[in-house]
Amino acid sequence: MIALVDEKIENYATTHSSQEPELLARLARETYESMELPQMLTGRLEGSFLRVLVRAVQARRVLEVGMFTGYSALMMAEGLPDDGRIITCEVNPKSAEVARRYFAQSPHGHKIDLRMGPAVETIRALAGPFDFVFIDADKENYPIYYDLCLERLRPGGMMAIDNVLWSGYVLDPKDEETRAIVALNDKVLRDNRVDNALLTIRDGVMLAVKK
Ligand SMILES: C[S@@+](CC[C@H](N)C(=O)[O-])C[C@H]1O[C@@H](n2cnc3c(N)ncnc32)[C@H](O)[C@@H]1O
Repeated sequence: MIALVDEKIENYATTHSSQEPELLARLARETYESMELPQMLTGRLEGSFLRVLVRAVQARRVLEVGMFTGYSALMMAEGLPDDGRIITCEVNPKSAEVARRYFAQSPHGHKIDLRMGPAVETIRALAGPFDFVFIDADKENYPIYYDLCLERLRPGGMMAIDNVLWSGYVLDPKDEETRAIVALNDKVLRDNRVDNALLTIRDGVMLAVKK
């Protein structure tokens, strides 16, 4: 992933966002030491941002598409009340093994309901409404995840979609993943069911609020 924001500015923003709980720092360390593509983990800045959003919409039901080792799920779980719930989708058993170990150690882990299997099938089987959705899985499916999740989002609910700048390649798409992200960004812009803003946080975060 190519850094889109100047590294010193990014570090300043990160260190001026709420403290990373010690458990999440450990999870990030283990992920970087033991997993392939550890940079998929959202990290402290974007994780804090997600937690702030979850609190801001006073979410009780959250849907996450793409859990990896559970960093963003745990961050969002912190922003939920004790009876709040996150349903999170993942296909990779190795990621799930790491995530489950950390969920078991967290005072917020009981809020997370992990559903293994292709996310399209998982989401199709879910009933809404959700208050907050975070999409961060395979990019080719982004447009379909958007449609499925928007149907299940309550009016006033918020969706955040990660990697929508894709290291800047959206400016000159040359492969299927990039073309899917470009299609998603265009789709959200044209969709009058939502109000949206594309933010230059990390690799780009699309925010959409359902009208
Ligand atoms: C970018 S990572 C998610 C990072 C995570 N949100 C975090 O902050 O650590 C994307 C994850 O989506 C998972 N994934 C890919 N395709 C999927 C699918 N079809 N259904 C469910 N999960 C999928 C991958 O295994 C990977 O762990």
